[in-house]
Amino acid sequence: MKKLKEELELFFKEFEDDIKNVDSLEKLKDVEIKYSGKRSKLHSFLKLIGDLKKPEEKKEAGFLINRTKSEIEKKLKVLKESCEKKEIEKRLKQQSIDFTKPVFSENKGSLHPITFIKRDVERILTGMSFSLVTGPEMETEYYNFEALNIPPTHPARDMQDTFFLLNGMILRTHTSSCQSRTLEKHKPPLRIFAPGKCFRYESIDASHETAFYQVEGLVVDQNITIANLIGTMKTLLSEIFQREDIDVRLRPGYFPFVEPGFELDIKCIICNGKGCSTCKHSGWLELVPCGMVHPNVLKYGGIDPEKYNGFAFGLGLTRLAMMRYKINDIRLLNSGDLRILKQFR
Ligand code: DAH
Repeated sequence: MKKLKEELELFFKEFEDDIKNVDSLEKLKDVEIKYSGKRSKLHSFLKLIGDLKKPEEKKEAGFLINRTKSEIEKKLKVLKESCEKKEIEKRLKQQSIDFTKPVFSENKGSLHPITFIKRDVERILTGMSFSLVTGPEMETEYYNFEALNIPPTHPARDMQDTFFLLNGMILRTHTSSCQSRTLEKHKPPLRIFAPGKCFRYESIDASHETAFYQVEGLVVDQNITIANLIGTMKTLLSEIFQREDIDVRLRPGYFPFVEPGFELDIKCIICNGKGCSTCKHSGWLELVPCGMVHPNVLKYGGIDPEKYNGFAFGLGLTRLAMMRYKINDIRLLNSGDLRILKQFR
């Protein structure tokens, strides 16, 4: 009996030594198997009871073994709780979210190609001392047409072109509406540009959309000439296309708010004027409608056309983006298809 007692004490001491190193559930499992499992030494102690003859001896041995067993189990239980707690804390620490950390995710958003070109044009024009102005997308017929010398009978007002709203307003068909709004508010000399979205009731195909982007430009001062217009366009376009020099040509174009009005073409930047599919083998690309501000437009803005004159131009931002990024279908730009948009990071 004495021997059993000693052995149990030794066994328990060994157990106590072993649990000193237990700091995880994994290590705890090993200790559990060794000291309280079916194949543990404790189990073999229990088997010894059967070999004892006297009932008192059996009783005492049983008492001693069970006491050791329950002490071991008690300690293991406490240890298990503390290990579990430690593990949870460790996991929480690993999972904790630091809201101040920058996000480097594959699903990061990107700017739209139109935004890239719009920002470029904004940077270039402000560098040429133009000021940015804006106007509403929901516009009055007055600012969109009348004040731009477009009479009620003009085909541009036709139901086929313009979205008429139930509240009596329209969706602006061009950013030229910002011309009339600016002239009313600011007195010359002025150089402004107005980038923004425009809307037309179009049948949609690869080159027509109901929503598209333009930049309107307007200069009003004294003694402005067509040479000023051409010089400004050449500077602007050579910056946009990153070319030393851009060849331009003017053809007559009719727009009620300019007189004379022009279609400004640039020598094809793809083939250098030799003729290719982009310029439809003409060597030229029709790019900027423009002209000298019509005296009536100045009058509508309360500006004396005898004293002041100017020029205006309308740059198709959507068209520029398609040219720069070689996008052959305008519908892709508004599609919201991430496979397209992700290419312009
Ligand atoms: N607003 C015209 C359009 O959308 C474009 C335009 C033509 C603007 C001539 C101008 C201009 O400033 O002078 O079709």
